Amino acid sequence: MLPSRVTLVEVGPRDGLQNEKQPVTTAQKIELVRRLQAAGLAELEVASFVSPKWVPQMADSAAVLAGIERRPGIRYSALTPNLKGFEAALACRADEIVIFASATEAFSRKNINCSIAESVERFAPVVAAAHAAGIKVRSAVSCALGCPYQGEVSADEVERVVVLLKGIGADHVGIADTIGVGTPRRVQAAMERALRHFPIDEVSGHFHDTYGQALANIYASLELGIHTFDASVAGLGGCPYAKGATGNVGTEDVLFMLQGLGIETGVDLARLVDAAEYISGVIGRKPVSRTGSAMLAKRAAAASAAAAMAVAATV
Ligand code: HMG
Ligand code: MG
Repeated sequence: MLPSRVTLVEVGPRDGLQNEKQPVTTAQKIELVRRLQAAGLAELEVASFVSPKWVPQMADSAAVLAGIERRPGIRYSALTPNLKGFEAALACRADEIVIFASATEAFSRKNINCSIAESVERFAPVVAAAHAAGIKVRSAVSCALGCPYQGEVSADEVERVVVLLKGIGADHVGIADTIGVGTPRRVQAAMERALRHFPIDEVSGHFHDTYGQALANIYASLELGIHTFDASVAGLGGCPYAKGATGNVGTEDVLFMLQGLGIETGVDLARLVDAAEYISGVIGRKPVSRTGSAMLAKRAAAASAAAAMAVAATV
């Protein structure tokens, strides 16, 4: 039995845009968020309060959070690597924060310039401060299925970090395949380790689609009852500290599969494709998502057929 309902956490405005080379203005980010909420997405990761020297694309996160038109029932989350980032997120009224530790020492150093233990030590006061402010803390385990520097990553290494994150009070854990090398059985093994420590409602999957495995990995997670997945509109993004990694699985692709399985999400596919079309226009390339591309091609063919009919009618 697969879950009857899935929560899609849209991470395109954060994980997607943090790695796009083409500059995206604050106004364009706000417009993207507006379109994503119009599509019915209720969980939106819209900001990242990291060092602007490390990720300049996210430097306007405060302006994005200030500029979006908030809708009731929608949670706007932000990535925070330390207390400085958390204080900025709090000042901007982020509803939820995301802390991120790595399953491997090498990626931890490259991504946040410290060891795994140091990162968890740094996150502990962030979790405490967030809880004191009534803010939920999601955590992510990066490189849970493979690391660009170390190579293979074992389920034991994943579980070690899951336990550390649980120990400092994280409310949720996401198993993140940062470089998209995971395959279904290995994903299930990693998920099972997370499920030893967090309830099923608080475990999610975050799959980059570098090797085209993300949908299979989501299906494998659904088989375990996991019902929360991150995804990125138009398949935007990658990771600045994992060269060659492509974006998250496209939200349109995940939605198309879930619809085919009869699983509810509350998200409207046509409107989601509108958002994909918009942001693809902004960054000047076609959506990476297969469903987004297919639906836009179908729309273009219908529009040119309608235009040809209109011309024929006038002659
Ligand atoms: P550091 O250089 O070791 O930090 O960076 P520091 O404490 O020595 O500070 C250096 C400078 O950064 C100082 O400024 C600080 O004030 C400033 P200066 O005095 O030189 O002018 N600084 C900050 N500025 C703004 N906001 C902050 C902040 N903290 C310090 N929060 C640090 C350590 C963690 C800050 C840095 O390594 C960093 O920002 N890393 C972020 C890297 C990143 O964003 N990676 C991508 C996101 S993770 C991801 O995508 C994975 C995920 O999707 C899951 C998956 O797929 O795996 C979540
Ligand atoms: Mg990611």
